[in-house]
Amino acid sequence: MIILDNVSKRYQTRGKGWFSAVEPLSLHIGAGEIFGLMGYSGAGKSTLLRLINLLERPDTGTVTVAGQDLTAMGAAQLRQARQNIGMVFQQFNLLANRTVADNAAFPLEIAGWPSEKIKTRVAECLEIVGLQDRANHYPVQLSGGQKQRVGIARALAPNPQVILADEPTSALDPATTRSVLECLEDINKRFNVTVVIVTHEMSVLRRLCDRAALLHQGRLVETVNIENGMIHAQSEIGRELVRED
Ligand SMILES: Nc1ncnc2c1ncn2[C@@H]1O[C@H](COP(=O)(O)OP(=O)(O)O)[C@@H](O)[C@H]1O
Ligand SMILES: [Mg+2]
Repeated sequence: MIILDNVSKRYQTRGKGWFSAVEPLSLHIGAGEIFGLMGYSGAGKSTLLRLINLLERPDTGTVTVAGQDLTAMGAAQLRQARQNIGMVFQQFNLLANRTVADNAAFPLEIAGWPSEKIKTRVAECLEIVGLQDRANHYPVQLSGGQKQRVGIARALAPNPQVILADEPTSALDPATTRSVLECLEDINKRFNVTVVIVTHEMSVLRRLCDRAALLHQGRLVETVNIENGMIHAQSEIGRELVRED
């Protein structure tokens, strides 16, 4: 579903030349996987995630999602292709002056869906995330976990094959973390949506992921398998991360 081939990203820093956030790396993520990106703060996890939908354009390499090479596309084609890739953010990024339903409707409005279809699809998505009774509430009236489930409904609305989530539970307490992870898992199982999730929390990896890539200082150190809540890290840094948990 996702093929990263030799992708890399550098940033220009003030006075200190170029900083390499992601060294050239290749990664394949299968359809229907829940795939983690793990590593310490600053490792390049968010940058790598944003390379998948070209929010960051790679300096080298190609990004192929669902058989389409995003790096070869022009702006209009890329906008279209991004309909197939939902994104969920740590700080939810909801619009405060819009209701829950209107937040979830936002990407569909942008994509020019007719209003009747938007209504039906939004109702469906709010039901999937368990917020059908909150449709007319505003974000300020919701708990953190509910806000994130609105974020997930919004990501899901255009019916994407892929959802990218950047630390979706890092702003939440353990109980609401659970509800958000269950929601992502449910969407993965029911609709076979491929999920890529950035997290520094080993508990999230154990609970949710099939495999994860370990990043350290912009390098892909290893890809680890996760079975029955066991993270099978081989590298020194991987074992350290698991041990610290
Ligand atoms: N827009 C940017 N400009 C300059 N440096 C950046 C930018 N975005 C990220 N970085 C740097 O790249 C490195 C990796 O960042 P990031 O991908 O956010 O790491 P992580 O998500 O693993 O914490 C960090 O050192 C960060 O400071
Ligand atoms: Mg990050």
